[in-house]
Parts: sequence; C-alpha cells; structure tokens
Amino acid sequence: MWTRIKAATEAAKTRRITDLFAADPDRAAKFSVRAGGMLFDYSKTTLNADSRALILSLIEAQGLAARREAMVSGGAINETEGRAVLHTALRSGDDTPIMVEGRDILPEIRATRARMAEFAQNIRAGDWADVVNIGIGGSHLGPEMATSALAPYHDGPRCHFVANVDGADIADTLGNLDPARTLFLIASKTFTTIETMTNAATARDWLRAHGRDPGAQMAAISSATARTAQWGIAPERVFGFGDYIGGRYSVWGPIGLALMIAIGPDRFKAFLDGAAEMDAHFCTAPPQDNMPVMLALTGLWHHQGCGHATRAVLPYDQRLALLPAYLQQLEMESNGKGVTMSGAPAPTVTGPVVWGAPGTNGQHAFYQLLHQGTQVVPCEFMVAAEGHEPDLAHHHRLLVANCLAQSEALMRGRTQAAARDMLQKAGYTGADLDRQAAHRAFPGNRPSTTLIYDRLTPRRLGQILALYEHRVFVEGVALGINSFDQWGVELGKVLATEMAGLLDGADAAAKDGSTRALIAFLRAHPLGI
Ligand code: F6P
Repeated sequence: MWTRIKAATEAAKTRRITDLFAADPDRAAKFSVRAGGMLFDYSKTTLNADSRALILSLIEAQGLAARREAMVSGGAINETEGRAVLHTALRSGDDTPIMVEGRDILPEIRATRARMAEFAQNIRAGDWADVVNIGIGGSHLGPEMATSALAPYHDGPRCHFVANVDGADIADTLGNLDPARTLFLIASKTFTTIETMTNAATARDWLRAHGRDPGAQMAAISSATARTAQWGIAPERVFGFGDYIGGRYSVWGPIGLALMIAIGPDRFKAFLDGAAEMDAHFCTAPPQDNMPVMLALTGLWHHQGCGHATRAVLPYDQRLALLPAYLQQLEMESNGKGVTMSGAPAPTVTGPVVWGAPGTNGQHAFYQLLHQGTQVVPCEFMVAAEGHEPDLAHHHRLLVANCLAQSEALMRGRTQAAARDMLQKAGYTGADLDRQAAHRAFPGNRPSTTLIYDRLTPRRLGQILALYEHRVFVEGVALGINSFDQWGVELGKVLATEMAGLLDGADAAAKDGSTRALIAFLRAHPLGI
C-alpha cells in the first residue's frame, strides 16, 4: 500500500495546485471539511480525488473504525504497557459506562472533577495572588498552552508554569512572588520525574525559608498517592487519574487544574464540551467528512508520501504561541516510533518533525525558507475569524490578510518571466535583469492547509486540541504503531542519573572519549559544577 502511495506522489510531482483549481471550480468545497463552527481547507495541496481515495482506503484497511471503537470503549490499545487509552472519557458528557478492568471509570472521573471544581473555587475565592504549576512534558505543556490560549477568560489568580530543571526557571518565577499568597500545584503523574521533584523540593524550601507551611500551600496532581503521602501532601489536596490517561493527553483532567483555577470550572467544562463535540464528530462522521481523518490524511500524503520531512504549525493567533510546542510532544512522542505494534520495523517513515511559531512573527524569521528554500515544508495555518479585541479590529484584519496571503503566495509562487517583467518595469536590463530575476522568482506549488474557526473560546480550543489528538491517532493507526507509549525517553533518563554521579567525581573511565572530555572540562571549570 505504501508503495502505491509513493507511486501516487511520484505522479503528483508534476501537478500544479493552481492547475487543480483551474480545472475544478468547486475544488475548495470538495477538498475541505466543516465541523462544529470550524472549516479545515486542504485544497491548497497536490491531493486529488484518486490520491485521497487511495490513502483513505489504506486508513480503513488498517482498521481505523475498530481501533477507534476499541479506544473509546476502553480496550487496552496501548499494548506495550497493557493499558487502555481513555482521554476521551475525561470529557465525555454521556453516562454510558466506560469499563476498565470490569469497572465503570466515569463515576471516579466525575467525582475527581467535582473535587477539582470545589478546590478551584476556593482558591479563586481566597486570598491567593499566584498559582505555580510545577510539572514537565504532558504535566506542563497542555496546562501552560491552554492557560495562555484562554487569557481573555482569566478571572482567577495569576498562573505560572515551571518545568525546566535549570534553576533559572524556578528562580525567575519565585523572584516575583509573595510567599504568603502563592499556591503550588505539583503536577506529575508518576511523582518521580526528576525535574519536577527537584523543582518541587526547591519550592518547598522557599516556603519554609519564608516561615510558611508547605502542607497548606501545596497540592499534588498525581496518580502516585503513596508518594504524595510520603511528601506530606494531605489526601484531600491530591487529584489523581488512572493509568488510562497518557501524560500528553492529560490536560482534560486534574492536570488541567491550573487552567480551571484561571478560567473557572464552568469555562473549563466548556473546554471539555468542545473536545467531546470533536470526539463525537470523529466517531460518527464518514471518513471524507471527518476532520481528524482528513487532517491525518494530508499529513500522511505530505510526509510518508511526498517525503517532506517536517511540517510547520503556523497559528495566526498570538494566544496559540505555545501550540507548536504542545503539538511537538503530542505528535513526536506519540508517532516518533521505529517499530509497529508487533515489533517489526515500521513499514515507512513514521512521525514528521513538527515545529512552528505564530504568524505574523514567523514571516519575518523563517518564511524565507518556506518560500524559496530547497526543501518543501507543508504549512498548517490556523486563524480565527474574530479576535477578542473589538477596539483593535484593524489589527485582526491585517492578521487574517497575512495568513491568507501567505498560503496563496506559497501556492502561486512567481515565475522567472513574471519576475523579469516586474524588474524590467523597474528599469533593470541585460545580465543584471537575468541575475536579479532568478533571486526574485518563487517556485510556488508549496502545500498548505488552513483551519479557520470563529473565535478562540474555551469550547473551540477544546475542539482544536481534540482534532489534533485524533489526527495523531489516525496517523498512528495508518502506520500500525503504538501512539501511546514513549519508551524512547527512558534511556536518556537512566544515563542522566548516572551522569550526575560522574559530575560529582565518580570514575568516568568507562565512558566514551567525547563524554570524558566534556566531564573533564566541566570538572576543571573554576566555578565547579
Ligand atoms: O519523559 C516523558 C514523560 O514521561 C512524558 O510522557 C510525560 O508527559 C512527562 O514525562 C512527565 O511525566 P510525569 O507526569 O510522570 O512527571
């Protein structure tokens, strides 16, 4: 099947996107999907009806419908860890039981959410000025991104996020806070992650050094209740979740507590409802009208098919500035795998590198390469029809205009002839004209997709994040890999613990020459380490 997709992309190499539009006046409608107030347009790609049908048949042959049903109903689809994958249960508005190991998990999810809501309301009503979420990876990226995305809805204490074990992160955060009015949320599913536990210990020392009682100013978000108890955090301040929730899929539950404190439980519920709406769409819409399936399909076409190594996520929405980093973990930790579920080598390349930055800033940084560089980067634009600043509507008009102009420029490009014509009119002649025209030509035919939504409300954000989660799922199903484990992060963690001992002076003779030389440099540093 992958060979057939490769062959289809070979045939598409000579296809111009502009010709596809010229040949079919309805292309935009035929190559776009609408769902819940959003429009996903993938018509500015080289996909045609045949290549779309080919990839859809691959996705279906790989058992998408059965895998999706297994996921939402609690099947242990995370096979290497023997776990169910039930982030959809965290936002389900329906009372149909979801059974895991013979037990309906919905009552415990809802009871925890009710405890979170009560806790959040007390914090919001109390005298707290600042909340600091200490976590990393999935226990950081989701709540930080969502809190920043929904800034217009904040009416609680200020929220801060500390992740890096680099002391600069926590030092810069604590430097501005009042020890008497700061609450810490220690967010770690395992409560063993070295970065989080080191930062939590530093926060605890900071509270004690200011005569505060850490027990009254810390709460834990963790499944490891034995460890939170050892840490002295009272059970009523611990918010747990089952091992059927992966870190990078966890913002919908207790890991979202900082967001709930920032925007309030009702708006948090709207965020969950948006995701649930996307879940329902994903589970019921026919493949060609299914937004996550079609977003996945464009990804498979561009990366596995056309061989474009990376994809850029370009939100023309300043408050989604952290979305590319969030999607990096979601997509690269999920689908950056080398083997299929059975342990055999993956049939083709797996997940692409995901990167990006908000528009219009990126236009003045890396878009040069997007337009004229020698590698093609499929671009995923996102933009809201409306901003949250009615007094600054002229800003929003320019923002949207730039977004649309970029996708058009990438597609149309500028021929050498058009560049010559332009330069001739400006007075260029002869060899100078030829040389300058080469620099001013753009190849064009560079693919992009655009997701348009009405406004970045809590509900829309929920929909957008669930859209991307399901996209990752569909791509994983197409590749036959397990999108829900992350064994690739383990080796570095083990070596870091050993390395810390070597920095303290343990014998490094068994290490390679490069590592020994780096350790020697650090040991010789006059300030020590
Ligand atoms: O190192 C990867 C990882 O396990 C992520 O998958 C996870 O989101 C992150 O670490 C944090 O883990 P925890 O919540 O257990 O501290």
